Amino acid sequence: MPNAPARYDDDLAYVHAVGFSGLVTGAMPAVLDLLRADATPVRRVYDVGCGSGVSTRALVDAGYEVVALEPSPSLAAMARAAVPSAKVIEATVYGVELDPCDAILAIGEPLTYHERDADPRQRVEAFFPAAARALRPGGHLIFDLIETGTPSLTARGWAAGDDWAVLTATTEDVERARLERRIEIFREVNGAYRRSRETHEVALFDAEWVVAALAAVGFDTTTARSYGAHPLALRRRAFFARRQA
Ligand SMILES: C[S@@+](CC[C@H](N)C(=O)[O-])C[C@H]1O[C@@H](n2cnc3c(N)ncnc32)[C@H](O)[C@@H]1O
Repeated sequence: MPNAPARYDDDLAYVHAVGFSGLVTGAMPAVLDLLRADATPVRRVYDVGCGSGVSTRALVDAGYEVVALEPSPSLAAMARAAVPSAKVIEATVYGVELDPCDAILAIGEPLTYHERDADPRQRVEAFFPAAARALRPGGHLIFDLIETGTPSLTARGWAAGDDWAVLTATTEDVERARLERRIEIFREVNGAYRRSRETHEVALFDAEWVVAALAAVGFDTTTARSYGAHPLALRRRAFFARRQA
């Protein structure tokens, strides 16, 4: 992606790992239960947008062979260090050919990230058949997205830990079905706070459109506002799709 703005550079990658791993940590027990309940044993799993490797670690510990895809060099390096036995590829899911597998996970909204000039629906609509080709019959595609709708997600917020703080200004563009997140990051390094800035643009999806796009390429899908007992944030939806036999 030439000229793509940096996302999850060193400091935001660190902040994400230490301050924002709650969703994936909460989601993994339900995801693992689903994979274990499959009558056909699950062996090979793709972990798309693996971040710092929390889900990758859980999958490897559960005995699966894991290929993790992570476009942020900083997060990919953290995932590699955290889970040396996983294959962590520094790549976007739209830039690789998926090998045969039993499950594909994309937890924590990886499929919402797009370049400003990309068409997110086209991207995702092209990803679903690629996932269907890679998955065996009955294979799992599990991911979450942010939905279009109400209430508005336009907001300002902040979060902080012992050695970091972030300020976030989120603006929802209803017409374009996008969120722009402007993030100011402060991280303590050698006794002083280093300041950096990132802007992320993410796409919003209509859940019925997503389910229909999945059905069109041979997936049966259920959706939920939680991963098992772990609730999702406002206007987030989890999709549990299985490739038809
Ligand atoms: C909110 S973070 C979630 C990370 C991790 N899954 C978790 O839940 O902690 C979103 C992740 O998706 C990754 N991502 C963004 N676009 C992606 C793409 N096209 N393919 C794969 N990963 C992507 C980001 O680099 C980031 O690591």
